[in-house]
Amino acid sequence: MCGIVGAIAQRNVTPVLLEGLRRLEYRGYDSCGVAVLQDGEPLTRNAHPIFSSGEIALVHNGIIENHESLRETLSALGRDGNYLASDTMALAGNAEHFIYLEEGDLVSLSREGISIADRDGNPVAREIRELEATKAAVGLGPYRHYMQKEIFEQPSVIADSTEHLVRFAPALFGAHANAVFAEIDSVLILACGTSYHSGMTAKYWLESISRLPTSVEIASEYRYRDSVPNPRTLVLAISQSGETADTLAALKHAQVLGHRHTLAVCNVAGSAILRQAALHFLTRAGAEIGVASTKAFTTQLVALFVLAATLAKRRGMLDAHREAAMLGQLHHLPAALNGVLALAPQIIAWAGSLARKENALFLGRGIHYPIALEGALKLKEISYIHAEAYAAGELKHGPLALVTEQMPVVTVAPNDALLEKLKSNLQEVRARGGELYVFSDADSKIRSAPGLHVIRMPEHYGLLSPILHVVPLQLLAYHTACARGTDVDKPRDLAKSVTVE
Ligand code: AGP
Repeated sequence: MCGIVGAIAQRNVTPVLLEGLRRLEYRGYDSCGVAVLQDGEPLTRNAHPIFSSGEIALVHNGIIENHESLRETLSALGRDGNYLASDTMALAGNAEHFIYLEEGDLVSLSREGISIADRDGNPVAREIRELEATKAAVGLGPYRHYMQKEIFEQPSVIADSTEHLVRFAPALFGAHANAVFAEIDSVLILACGTSYHSGMTAKYWLESISRLPTSVEIASEYRYRDSVPNPRTLVLAISQSGETADTLAALKHAQVLGHRHTLAVCNVAGSAILRQAALHFLTRAGAEIGVASTKAFTTQLVALFVLAATLAKRRGMLDAHREAAMLGQLHHLPAALNGVLALAPQIIAWAGSLARKENALFLGRGIHYPIALEGALKLKEISYIHAEAYAAGELKHGPLALVTEQMPVVTVAPNDALLEKLKSNLQEVRARGGELYVFSDADSKIRSAPGLHVIRMPEHYGLLSPILHVVPLQLLAYHTACARGTDVDKPRDLAKSVTVE
Protein backbone atom coordinates (compact mmCIF):
# COMPACT_ATOMS: atom_id res chain seq x y z
CA MET A 1 0.00 0.00 0.00
CA CYS A 2 1.88 3.15 1.01
CA GLY A 3 5.53 3.57 1.93
CA ILE A 4 7.42 6.45 3.48
CA VAL A 5 11.15 7.13 3.63
CA GLY A 6 12.83 10.27 4.98
CA ALA A 7 16.32 11.41 5.97
CA ILE A 8 18.15 14.25 7.61
CA ALA A 9 21.90 14.06 7.19
CA GLN A 10 24.94 16.06 6.16
CA ARG A 11 25.41 14.12 2.95
CA ASN A 12 23.23 14.29 -0.15
CA VAL A 13 20.17 12.26 0.85
CA THR A 14 18.47 12.17 -2.56
CA PRO A 15 20.03 8.82 -3.61
CA VAL A 16 19.02 7.34 -0.23
CA LEU A 17 15.43 8.48 -0.74
CA LEU A 18 15.22 7.21 -4.32
CA GLU A 19 16.75 3.84 -3.44
CA GLY A 20 14.46 3.60 -0.40
CA LEU A 21 11.40 4.28 -2.57
CA ARG A 22 12.57 1.70 -5.10
CA ARG A 23 12.82 -0.89 -2.34
CA LEU A 24 9.36 -0.02 -1.07
CA GLU A 25 7.85 -0.54 -4.54
CA TYR A 26 7.12 -4.17 -3.65
CA ARG A 27 4.50 -2.98 -1.18
CA GLY A 28 2.35 -2.09 -4.16
CA TYR A 29 1.75 1.55 -4.90
CA ASP A 30 1.37 3.23 -8.28
CA SER A 31 2.76 6.73 -7.70
CA CYS A 32 5.43 8.41 -5.63
CA GLY A 33 6.94 11.81 -4.86
CA VAL A 34 10.16 13.20 -3.41
CA ALA A 35 10.82 16.50 -1.63
CA VAL A 36 14.33 17.58 -0.63
CA LEU A 37 15.42 20.60 1.42
CA GLN A 38 18.96 21.90 0.98
CA ASP A 39 20.78 24.75 2.72
CA GLY A 40 24.28 24.91 1.31
CA GLU A 41 25.23 28.52 1.66
CA PRO A 42 27.36 29.80 4.59
CA LEU A 43 24.98 31.02 7.28
CA THR A 44 25.25 31.75 10.97
CA ARG A 45 23.55 28.49 11.81
CA ASN A 46 26.19 26.57 9.81
CA ALA A 47 29.13 28.46 11.36
CA HIS A 48 31.09 27.29 14.34
CA PRO A 49 30.91 26.80 17.22
CA ILE A 50 29.07 23.68 16.07
CA PHE A 51 26.64 22.33 18.64
CA SER A 52 25.57 18.73 19.02
CA SER A 53 22.44 17.90 21.01
CA GLY A 54 23.00 21.10 23.00
CA GLU A 55 25.68 19.33 25.04
CA ILE A 56 28.83 19.49 22.93
CA ALA A 57 30.19 22.61 21.22
CA LEU A 58 33.12 22.34 18.78
CA VAL A 59 35.26 25.36 17.97
CA HIS A 60 38.01 25.10 15.42
CA ASN A 61 40.29 27.58 13.81
CA GLY A 62 41.02 27.55 10.10
CA ILE A 63 40.65 24.63 7.73
CA ILE A 64 40.25 21.02 8.88
CA GLU A 65 42.81 19.41 6.59
CA ASN A 66 42.02 15.83 7.54
CA HIS A 67 38.31 16.37 6.92
CA GLU A 68 38.23 13.55 4.34
CA SER A 69 39.57 10.87 6.66
CA LEU A 70 37.39 12.20 9.48
CA ARG A 71 34.37 12.01 7.22
CA GLU A 72 35.26 8.47 6.13
CA THR A 73 35.63 7.35 9.71
CA LEU A 74 32.37 8.94 10.72
CA SER A 75 30.51 7.53 7.71
CA ALA A 76 31.88 4.01 8.48
CA LEU A 77 30.38 4.29 12.03
CA GLY A 78 27.13 5.29 10.04
CA ARG A 79 26.15 8.05 12.38
CA ASP A 80 25.81 10.69 9.70
CA GLY A 81 22.19 11.43 10.17
CA ASN A 82 18.77 10.15 11.07
CA TYR A 83 16.28 8.49 8.81
CA LEU A 84 12.70 7.41 8.93
CA ALA A 85 10.79 4.85 6.91
CA SER A 86 7.62 2.84 7.08
CA ASP A 87 9.65 -0.32 6.36
CA THR A 88 13.22 -1.05 7.55
CA MET A 89 14.01 -2.53 4.14
CA ALA A 90 14.04 0.98 2.66
CA LEU A 91 17.07 1.86 4.76
CA ALA A 92 19.11 -1.36 4.74
CA GLY A 93 22.74 -0.38 4.22
CA ASN A 94 22.13 3.25 5.28
CA ALA A 95 21.16 2.83 8.92
CA GLU A 96 22.33 0.26 11.45
CA HIS A 97 20.05 0.87 14.40
CA PHE A 98 16.34 1.41 14.38
CA ILE A 99 13.46 2.22 16.67
CA TYR A 100 9.88 1.02 16.16
CA LEU A 101 7.31 3.65 17.00
CA GLU A 102 4.18 2.77 18.92
CA GLU A 103 0.68 3.67 17.74
CA GLY A 104 0.16 7.43 18.22
CA ASP A 105 3.87 8.27 18.69
CA LEU A 106 5.16 11.57 17.37
CA VAL A 107 8.83 11.71 16.35
CA SER A 108 11.03 14.71 15.66
CA LEU A 109 14.25 14.18 13.67
CA SER A 110 17.26 16.44 13.43
CA ARG A 111 20.77 15.66 12.23
CA GLU A 112 21.93 15.39 15.81
CA GLY A 113 19.24 13.22 17.27
CA ILE A 114 15.63 12.27 17.61
CA SER A 115 12.96 12.78 20.22
CA ILE A 116 9.78 10.80 20.64
CA ALA A 117 6.56 11.73 22.38
CA ASP A 118 3.70 9.33 23.05
CA ARG A 119 0.07 9.96 22.08
CA ASP A 120 -0.37 12.17 25.17
CA GLY A 121 2.63 14.29 24.29
CA ASN A 122 4.88 12.84 27.01
CA PRO A 123 8.54 12.27 26.04
CA VAL A 124 9.27 8.53 25.82
CA ALA A 125 12.32 6.36 25.18
CA ARG A 126 11.78 3.45 22.80
CA GLU A 127 14.10 0.46 22.49
CA ILE A 128 16.96 0.82 19.96
CA ARG A 129 17.51 -2.36 17.95
CA GLU A 130 20.16 -3.62 15.57
CA LEU A 131 19.07 -3.57 11.93
CA GLU A 132 19.22 -7.14 10.63
CA ALA A 133 18.39 -6.58 6.97
CA THR A 134 21.47 -6.03 4.88
CA LYS A 135 21.94 -4.78 1.35
CA ALA A 136 22.58 -8.39 0.30
CA ALA A 137 19.13 -9.36 1.57
CA VAL A 138 17.47 -6.89 -0.77
CA GLY A 139 19.68 -7.62 -3.79
CA LEU A 140 18.65 -10.07 -6.52
CA GLY A 141 21.98 -11.88 -6.81
CA PRO A 142 22.02 -14.28 -9.76
CA TYR A 143 18.22 -14.60 -9.87
CA ARG A 144 15.78 -13.14 -12.36
CA HIS A 145 13.08 -12.34 -9.83
CA TYR A 146 12.79 -12.05 -6.05
CA MET A 147 10.23 -14.84 -6.03
CA GLN A 148 12.73 -17.19 -7.66
CA LYS A 149 15.45 -16.10 -5.23
CA GLU A 150 13.13 -16.62 -2.28
CA ILE A 151 12.05 -20.10 -3.45
CA PHE A 152 15.70 -21.12 -3.66
CA GLU A 153 16.50 -19.58 -0.26
CA GLN A 154 14.17 -22.03 1.47
CA PRO A 155 16.82 -24.63 2.38
CA SER A 156 19.02 -21.99 4.01
CA VAL A 157 16.29 -20.10 5.88
CA ILE A 158 14.88 -23.37 7.17
CA ALA A 159 18.37 -24.48 8.23
CA ASP A 160 18.65 -21.13 10.02
CA SER A 161 15.23 -21.65 11.64
CA THR A 162 16.15 -25.06 13.04
CA GLU A 163 19.82 -24.42 13.81
CA HIS A 164 19.31 -23.76 17.51
CA LEU A 165 16.50 -26.22 17.95
CA VAL A 166 17.74 -28.94 20.27
CA ARG A 167 14.45 -29.70 21.93
CA PHE A 168 10.83 -28.61 21.90
CA ALA A 169 10.32 -26.16 24.75
CA PRO A 170 7.74 -23.48 25.64
CA ALA A 171 10.58 -20.96 26.06
CA LEU A 172 10.81 -20.86 22.25
CA PHE A 173 7.56 -18.88 22.30
CA GLY A 174 8.42 -16.36 25.02
CA ALA A 175 9.02 -16.12 28.74
CA HIS A 176 5.39 -16.70 29.78
CA ALA A 177 4.64 -19.49 27.34
CA ASN A 178 4.89 -22.26 29.90
CA ALA A 179 2.17 -20.72 32.06
CA VAL A 180 -0.06 -20.05 29.05
CA PHE A 181 0.42 -23.51 27.54
CA ALA A 182 -0.54 -25.05 30.91
CA GLU A 183 -3.94 -23.38 30.74
CA ILE A 184 -5.08 -23.85 27.17
CA ASP A 185 -7.48 -26.54 25.93
CA SER A 186 -7.92 -25.49 22.28
CA VAL A 187 -6.45 -23.31 19.52
CA LEU A 188 -8.06 -20.68 17.29
CA ILE A 189 -5.96 -19.62 14.30
CA LEU A 190 -6.54 -16.24 12.59
CA ALA A 191 -4.81 -15.31 9.31
CA CYS A 192 -5.25 -14.26 5.68
CA GLY A 193 -4.12 -15.63 2.31
CA THR A 194 -1.02 -17.79 2.36
CA SER A 195 -0.73 -17.42 6.14
CA TYR A 196 -4.27 -18.82 6.38
CA HIS A 197 -3.09 -21.86 4.43
CA SER A 198 -0.24 -22.40 6.88
CA GLY A 199 -2.84 -22.20 9.64
CA MET A 200 -4.97 -24.82 7.88
CA THR A 201 -1.92 -27.10 7.66
CA ALA A 202 -1.12 -26.50 11.33
CA LYS A 203 -4.61 -27.63 12.30
CA TYR A 204 -3.71 -31.17 11.20
CA TRP A 205 -0.52 -31.13 13.30
CA LEU A 206 -2.17 -29.56 16.35
CA GLU A 207 -4.98 -32.08 16.33
CA SER A 208 -2.94 -35.19 15.49
CA ILE A 209 0.29 -34.50 17.42
CA SER A 210 -0.94 -32.33 20.32
CA ARG A 211 -4.56 -33.53 20.41
CA LEU A 212 -5.81 -29.93 20.78
CA PRO A 213 -9.11 -29.06 19.08
CA THR A 214 -8.19 -26.38 16.53
CA SER A 215 -10.24 -24.07 14.35
CA VAL A 216 -8.86 -21.85 11.60
CA GLU A 217 -10.60 -18.66 10.55
CA ILE A 218 -10.10 -16.11 7.83
CA ALA A 219 -9.30 -13.01 9.86
CA SER A 220 -11.62 -10.72 7.88
CA GLU A 221 -14.55 -13.07 8.59
CA TYR A 222 -13.83 -13.68 12.27
CA ARG A 223 -13.64 -10.00 13.16
CA TYR A 224 -17.21 -9.38 11.96
CA ARG A 225 -19.08 -12.43 13.16
CA ASP A 226 -20.54 -13.40 16.52
CA SER A 227 -18.41 -16.06 18.13
CA VAL A 228 -18.44 -17.78 21.48
CA PRO A 229 -15.10 -17.14 23.20
CA ASN A 230 -13.52 -19.83 25.32
CA PRO A 231 -11.06 -18.22 27.76
CA ARG A 232 -8.88 -21.35 27.62
CA THR A 233 -8.31 -21.04 23.89
CA LEU A 234 -4.91 -20.04 22.53
CA VAL A 235 -5.54 -17.43 19.83
CA LEU A 236 -2.80 -17.76 17.22
CA ALA A 237 -2.32 -14.95 14.68
CA ILE A 238 -0.12 -15.84 11.70
CA SER A 239 1.29 -13.18 9.39
CA GLN A 240 4.43 -12.74 7.31
CA SER A 241 4.38 -8.94 7.52
CA GLY A 242 2.87 -8.65 10.97
CA GLU A 243 0.99 -5.63 9.62
CA THR A 244 -2.03 -7.14 7.83
CA ALA A 245 -4.96 -4.96 8.89
CA ASP A 246 -7.54 -7.78 8.99
CA THR A 247 -5.33 -10.10 11.04
CA LEU A 248 -4.40 -7.35 13.48
CA ALA A 249 -8.04 -6.32 13.87
CA ALA A 250 -9.11 -9.95 14.35
CA LEU A 251 -6.50 -10.40 17.08
CA LYS A 252 -7.66 -7.22 18.83
CA HIS A 253 -11.27 -8.38 18.45
CA ALA A 254 -10.40 -11.68 20.14
CA GLN A 255 -8.78 -9.77 23.00
CA VAL A 256 -11.84 -7.56 23.39
CA LEU A 257 -13.94 -10.74 23.60
CA GLY A 258 -11.82 -11.79 26.57
CA HIS A 259 -9.13 -13.99 25.03
CA ARG A 260 -6.01 -13.53 27.16
CA HIS A 261 -3.86 -16.26 25.65
CA THR A 262 -2.51 -14.92 22.38
CA LEU A 263 0.46 -15.91 20.25
CA ALA A 264 1.76 -14.25 17.08
CA VAL A 265 3.85 -16.03 14.45
CA CYS A 266 5.35 -13.29 12.25
CA ASN A 267 8.38 -12.69 10.07
CA VAL A 268 9.00 -9.02 10.85
CA ALA A 269 10.51 -8.01 14.18
CA GLY A 270 8.69 -5.20 15.92
CA SER A 271 5.61 -5.51 13.71
CA ALA A 272 2.19 -4.51 15.01
CA ILE A 273 0.82 -8.06 15.34
CA LEU A 274 3.91 -9.22 17.25
CA ARG A 275 3.54 -6.29 19.61
CA GLN A 276 -0.18 -6.95 20.11
CA ALA A 277 0.13 -10.61 21.16
CA ALA A 278 1.25 -11.88 24.55
CA LEU A 279 3.52 -14.60 23.12
CA HIS A 280 5.71 -14.41 20.01
CA PHE A 281 7.52 -16.57 17.55
CA LEU A 282 9.63 -14.71 15.01
CA THR A 283 10.11 -16.75 11.85
CA ARG A 284 13.53 -16.45 10.23
CA ALA A 285 12.67 -16.21 6.54
CA GLY A 286 14.54 -12.91 6.17
CA ALA A 287 13.19 -10.11 4.00
CA GLU A 288 10.53 -11.40 1.58
CA ILE A 289 10.09 -8.99 -1.32
CA GLY A 290 8.14 -10.93 -3.95
CA VAL A 291 4.44 -10.29 -3.42
CA ALA A 292 3.79 -14.02 -3.70
CA SER A 293 4.77 -15.49 -0.35
CA THR A 294 7.06 -18.54 -0.53
CA LYS A 295 9.83 -18.81 2.06
CA ALA A 296 7.66 -17.06 4.64
CA PHE A 297 5.09 -19.86 4.19
CA THR A 298 7.56 -22.72 4.70
CA THR A 299 9.20 -21.05 7.70
CA GLN A 300 5.73 -20.51 9.18
CA LEU A 301 5.10 -24.23 8.72
CA VAL A 302 8.32 -25.03 10.58
CA ALA A 303 7.28 -22.71 13.43
CA LEU A 304 3.81 -24.25 13.60
CA PHE A 305 5.18 -27.79 13.57
CA VAL A 306 7.51 -26.82 16.44
CA LEU A 307 4.49 -25.37 18.26
CA ALA A 308 2.49 -28.57 17.80
CA ALA A 309 5.40 -30.70 19.03
CA THR A 310 6.03 -28.37 21.98
CA LEU A 311 2.38 -28.51 23.05
CA ALA A 312 2.35 -32.29 22.61
CA LYS A 313 5.42 -32.62 24.82
CA ARG A 314 3.96 -30.24 27.40
CA ARG A 315 0.80 -32.40 27.45
CA GLY A 316 2.77 -35.66 27.87
CA MET A 317 2.04 -36.88 24.34
CA LEU A 318 5.56 -36.90 22.96
CA ASP A 319 8.11 -39.36 24.26
CA ALA A 320 11.86 -38.76 23.99
CA HIS A 321 12.24 -41.23 21.12
CA ARG A 322 9.58 -39.52 18.98
CA GLU A 323 10.91 -36.07 19.88
CA ALA A 324 14.39 -37.08 18.70
CA ALA A 325 12.94 -38.46 15.45
CA MET A 326 11.02 -35.21 14.78
CA LEU A 327 14.08 -33.07 15.50
CA GLY A 328 16.13 -35.28 13.18
CA GLN A 329 13.56 -34.79 10.41
CA LEU A 330 13.61 -31.02 10.89
CA HIS A 331 17.38 -30.92 10.67
CA HIS A 332 17.39 -33.01 7.47
CA LEU A 333 14.72 -30.81 5.86
CA PRO A 334 17.14 -28.41 4.06
CA ALA A 335 18.80 -31.36 2.29
CA ALA A 336 15.39 -32.76 1.33
CA LEU A 337 14.35 -29.33 0.00
CA ASN A 338 17.47 -29.16 -2.15
CA GLY A 339 16.40 -32.47 -3.67
CA VAL A 340 13.02 -30.96 -4.55
CA LEU A 341 14.54 -27.77 -6.03
CA ALA A 342 16.60 -29.97 -8.34
CA LEU A 343 13.30 -30.92 -10.05
CA ALA A 344 13.06 -27.42 -11.57
CA PRO A 345 13.90 -28.48 -15.17
CA GLN A 346 11.00 -31.00 -15.23
CA ILE A 347 8.66 -28.41 -13.75
CA ILE A 348 9.66 -25.82 -16.37
CA ALA A 349 8.55 -28.26 -19.07
CA TRP A 350 5.10 -28.54 -17.43
CA ALA A 351 4.88 -24.76 -17.01
CA GLY A 352 5.16 -24.35 -20.78
CA SER A 353 1.92 -26.33 -21.25
CA LEU A 354 0.11 -24.78 -18.31
CA ALA A 355 0.90 -21.27 -19.54
CA ARG A 356 -1.39 -21.87 -22.56
CA LYS A 357 -4.43 -22.61 -20.35
CA GLU A 358 -6.86 -20.21 -18.72
CA ASN A 359 -8.14 -22.53 -15.97
CA ALA A 360 -6.63 -25.14 -13.68
CA LEU A 361 -7.81 -27.39 -10.87
CA PHE A 362 -5.61 -28.37 -7.94
CA LEU A 363 -6.31 -31.46 -5.85
CA GLY A 364 -4.99 -32.69 -2.53
CA ARG A 365 -6.24 -34.71 0.42
CA GLY A 366 -5.81 -34.47 4.19
CA ILE A 367 -2.90 -32.31 5.26
CA HIS A 368 -2.05 -31.73 1.60
CA TYR A 369 -5.41 -30.12 0.83
CA PRO A 370 -4.15 -26.74 2.18
CA ILE A 371 -1.05 -27.27 0.03
CA ALA A 372 -3.28 -27.64 -3.05
CA LEU A 373 -5.04 -24.40 -2.00
CA GLU A 374 -1.68 -22.68 -1.71
CA GLY A 375 -0.60 -23.97 -5.14
CA ALA A 376 -3.78 -22.58 -6.71
CA LEU A 377 -3.33 -19.23 -4.95
CA LYS A 378 0.27 -18.96 -6.17
CA LEU A 379 -0.74 -19.73 -9.76
CA LYS A 380 -3.65 -17.30 -9.86
CA GLU A 381 -1.89 -14.37 -8.21
CA ILE A 382 1.15 -14.28 -10.47
CA SER A 383 0.10 -15.93 -13.77
CA TYR A 384 -3.54 -14.72 -13.75
CA ILE A 385 -4.72 -18.21 -14.67
CA HIS A 386 -7.98 -19.00 -12.93
CA ALA A 387 -7.15 -21.77 -10.48
CA GLU A 388 -9.28 -23.55 -7.87
CA ALA A 389 -8.27 -26.14 -5.32
CA TYR A 390 -10.44 -28.92 -3.96
CA ALA A 391 -10.10 -31.69 -1.44
CA ALA A 392 -10.00 -34.52 -4.00
CA GLY A 393 -12.97 -36.30 -2.39
CA GLU A 394 -15.11 -33.28 -3.27
CA LEU A 395 -14.63 -33.74 -7.04
CA LYS A 396 -17.75 -35.81 -7.48
CA HIS A 397 -19.79 -33.23 -5.57
CA GLY A 398 -19.51 -30.62 -8.30
CA PRO A 399 -16.17 -29.69 -9.86
CA LEU A 400 -16.01 -32.93 -11.88
CA ALA A 401 -18.44 -31.23 -14.27
CA LEU A 402 -15.60 -28.87 -15.24
CA VAL A 403 -13.18 -31.62 -16.20
CA THR A 404 -12.60 -31.90 -19.95
CA GLU A 405 -9.51 -32.30 -22.19
CA GLN A 406 -9.00 -28.55 -21.69
CA MET A 407 -8.70 -28.76 -17.92
CA PRO A 408 -5.24 -29.29 -16.38
CA VAL A 409 -5.55 -30.97 -12.97
CA VAL A 410 -2.51 -30.51 -10.74
CA THR A 411 -2.44 -33.10 -7.95
CA VAL A 412 -0.44 -33.37 -4.73
CA ALA A 413 -0.04 -37.12 -4.26
CA PRO A 414 2.29 -38.07 -1.39
CA ASN A 415 2.56 -41.66 -0.30
CA ASP A 416 0.41 -41.29 2.79
CA ALA A 417 -2.61 -43.11 4.20
CA LEU A 418 -4.94 -41.40 1.69
CA LEU A 419 -2.99 -42.34 -1.45
CA GLU A 420 -5.30 -45.18 -2.57
CA LYS A 421 -8.35 -42.94 -2.12
CA LEU A 422 -6.59 -40.25 -4.15
CA LYS A 423 -5.80 -42.72 -6.95
CA SER A 424 -9.53 -43.37 -7.31
CA ASN A 425 -10.13 -39.61 -7.61
CA LEU A 426 -7.48 -39.45 -10.34
CA GLN A 427 -9.29 -42.18 -12.26
CA GLU A 428 -12.42 -40.02 -12.20
CA VAL A 429 -10.44 -37.24 -13.89
CA ARG A 430 -8.84 -39.55 -16.45
CA ALA A 431 -12.17 -41.02 -17.40
CA ARG A 432 -13.28 -37.52 -18.46
CA GLY A 433 -10.12 -36.79 -20.44
CA GLY A 434 -8.68 -34.27 -17.93
CA GLU A 435 -4.92 -33.66 -18.22
CA LEU A 436 -3.30 -34.75 -14.93
CA TYR A 437 -0.06 -33.27 -13.57
CA VAL A 438 0.84 -35.32 -10.50
CA PHE A 439 3.52 -34.67 -7.89
CA SER A 440 3.96 -38.10 -6.33
CA ASP A 441 6.47 -39.49 -3.87
CA ALA A 442 9.19 -41.81 -5.16
CA ASP A 443 7.34 -44.90 -3.95
CA SER A 444 3.77 -43.88 -4.84
CA LYS A 445 3.61 -46.27 -7.85
CA ILE A 446 1.81 -43.75 -10.06
CA ARG A 447 3.25 -44.10 -13.56
CA SER A 448 3.17 -41.65 -16.44
CA ALA A 449 0.71 -42.47 -19.25
CA PRO A 450 -1.06 -40.48 -21.97
CA GLY A 451 -2.82 -37.62 -20.18
CA LEU A 452 -1.06 -38.47 -16.92
CA HIS A 453 2.21 -36.65 -16.24
CA VAL A 454 4.14 -37.57 -13.10
CA ILE A 455 7.04 -35.90 -11.32
CA ARG A 456 8.47 -37.96 -8.48
CA MET A 457 9.55 -36.19 -5.31
CA PRO A 458 12.86 -37.53 -3.98
CA GLU A 459 11.52 -38.95 -0.73
CA HIS A 460 8.35 -39.23 1.35
CA TYR A 461 8.64 -36.95 4.33
CA GLY A 462 5.97 -38.14 6.74
CA LEU A 463 4.46 -35.44 8.94
CA LEU A 464 6.58 -32.70 7.34
CA SER A 465 5.63 -33.70 3.80
CA PRO A 466 3.56 -30.48 3.21
CA ILE A 467 6.75 -28.41 3.51
CA LEU A 468 8.31 -30.37 0.66
CA HIS A 469 5.21 -30.67 -1.50
CA VAL A 470 4.48 -26.95 -1.66
CA VAL A 471 7.85 -26.19 -3.26
CA PRO A 472 7.16 -27.70 -6.72
CA LEU A 473 3.85 -25.84 -6.75
CA GLN A 474 5.70 -22.57 -6.10
CA LEU A 475 8.08 -23.39 -8.95
CA LEU A 476 5.22 -24.35 -11.25
CA ALA A 477 3.45 -21.04 -10.62
CA TYR A 478 6.68 -19.10 -11.01
CA HIS A 479 7.70 -20.66 -14.34
CA THR A 480 4.15 -20.50 -15.70
CA ALA A 481 4.04 -16.77 -14.92
CA CYS A 482 7.45 -16.30 -16.56
CA ALA A 483 6.21 -18.13 -19.66
CA ARG A 484 3.20 -15.77 -19.79
CA GLY A 485 5.43 -12.74 -19.30
CA THR A 486 3.65 -11.31 -16.26
CA ASP A 487 5.24 -9.08 -13.64
CA VAL A 488 6.09 -11.92 -11.26
CA ASP A 489 7.25 -9.90 -8.26
CA LYS A 490 4.59 -7.22 -8.50
CA PRO A 491 1.38 -8.81 -9.77
CA ARG A 492 -1.33 -6.41 -10.80
CA ASP A 493 -3.53 -4.93 -8.08
CA LEU A 494 -1.78 -6.78 -5.25
CA ALA A 495 0.33 -5.41 -2.40
CA LYS A 496 2.85 -7.17 -0.20
CA SER A 497 1.45 -5.81 3.05
CA VAL A 498 -2.27 -5.24 3.08
CA THR A 499 -2.42 -2.56 5.75
CA VAL A 500 -5.92 -1.38 4.89
CA GLU A 501 -9.21 -3.19 5.05
C1 AGP B 1 0.62 -14.49 -0.55
O1 AGP B 1 1.20 -14.99 -1.72
C2 AGP B 1 -0.28 -13.38 -0.74
N1 AGP B 1 0.37 -12.32 -1.40
C3 AGP B 1 -1.20 -12.99 0.40
O2 AGP B 1 -2.21 -13.93 0.39
C4 AGP B 1 -0.64 -12.87 1.84
O3 AGP B 1 -0.27 -14.13 2.31
C5 AGP B 1 -1.73 -12.26 2.75
O4 AGP B 1 -1.99 -10.95 2.32
C6 AGP B 1 -1.36 -12.26 4.20
O5 AGP B 1 -0.22 -11.50 4.45
P1 AGP B 1 0.57 -11.63 5.80
O6 AGP B 1 1.09 -13.02 5.91
O7 AGP B 1 1.66 -10.61 5.70
O8 AGP B 1 -0.40 -11.32 6.90
